[in-house]
Amino acid sequence: MSAAGVLFSPIRIGGTTIPNRIAMAPMTREFSPGGVPGADVAAYYARRAQGGCGLIITEGMAVNAAGAHDGPIPLLYQSETIEACRAIVSAVHGAGAKIMPQLWHVGVQDSPTEVNPLTVKQKPRRVGPSGLLGTGEPGGDALDENGIADTIADFARATHAARMAGFDGIEIHGAHGYLPDQFLWDRTNLRSDRYGGDAKERTRFVIELIRACRAAAGPDFPIVLRFSQWKSFDYEARLADTPQELEAILAPIAAAGVDAFHCSTRRFWERGFTGDRLTLAGWARKLTGLPTIAVGSVTLENDFKHDKTEDSGGIAESASRSRDVEDVAALVERGEFDMIAVGRAMVANPDWANLVAAGHTHRLRPFTRDLLATLD
Ligand SMILES: Cc1cc2nc3c(=O)[nH]c(=O)nc-3n(C[C@H](O)[C@H](O)[C@H](O)COP(=O)(O)O)c2cc1C
Repeated sequence: MSAAGVLFSPIRIGGTTIPNRIAMAPMTREFSPGGVPGADVAAYYARRAQGGCGLIITEGMAVNAAGAHDGPIPLLYQSETIEACRAIVSAVHGAGAKIMPQLWHVGVQDSPTEVNPLTVKQKPRRVGPSGLLGTGEPGGDALDENGIADTIADFARATHAARMAGFDGIEIHGAHGYLPDQFLWDRTNLRSDRYGGDAKERTRFVIELIRACRAAAGPDFPIVLRFSQWKSFDYEARLADTPQELEAILAPIAAAGVDAFHCSTRRFWERGFTGDRLTLAGWARKLTGLPTIAVGSVTLENDFKHDKTEDSGGIAESASRSRDVEDVAALVERGEFDMIAVGRAMVANPDWANLVAAGHTHRLRPFTRDLLATLD
């Protein structure tokens, strides 16, 4: 077996076996007019599946109108979108990979402008735990308890929709400052009711969310939770300053019915906390005993927020770097994490996994922003 061989062994997440350790990271592409992904989107994901990737995690798909990002993203609460997803699933399965949609609710973190005018006639108000952005500025309305229950029900409905469309599980977007993360973070959750309080008490929303999705999913349908320390507008932000604080957050969430954690960092090798070599994914695995997915700058020189000043929509270009493959494989081998998610490098290289399997990492193409202009 080559150094990278360990990346090509199967892994079980919940009731599903993923053929290898390589996931496509969720990436919003905005090619779904009216919220409905077409044949081009299906072909885009199928190309990555044909390229050897074991698990496709799709771009974020909205669970309801209030939580939908502004651009033409898939709106999973529409019946025509669920129908269109069947074609995506079938194309990806035909190429031998598994696929999970990422369920997304932006909370207050997005411009409160028009949402997909083709399908949503009235612009919804943004909602979050306290209506506040992490900067302390108002970003929308604070959810009342009915609003929280309705939002959780929308996530559960989306989970059911994902099953009906034939997906192999779901990933809940609980990272980067979006709605679940807004409840977890002390700067966006200032509630004095049972959804607020200390770090453990702030997990209530996510726990109820996971329980509801688990009820809709049934026991075997995998639920992955993506979380992060950093926020889209604040890369230094932290949910937890110590492993103990992280455990207080992740342990009850894991017990609620999560099958794996996707630990979003910008550089997969970085330590989660000072004073110990474990990465965030390593800590999550150690603290919960669940499989974890690591991510960030795999086979790339620059992390994806490397140059914030460019007119890039916040996405950095990068030269490729082949030596990461051995490092990732060594980390999987020693049980630091179970899977690696590849973002921009898999946009640039639909055949990323096959190139790695063949030992042709020197052929990996760099990531350039023009690649985001099309769905190749
Ligand atoms: C174009 C683009 C869109 C993204 N959209 C999402 C998204 O919808 N959901 C999410 O959780 N992360 C999103 N991300 C973050 C990626 O999943 C990933 O964490 C990040 O790109 C770092 O991985 P990389 O260095 O391999 O690109 C996006 C990244 C890019 C480049």
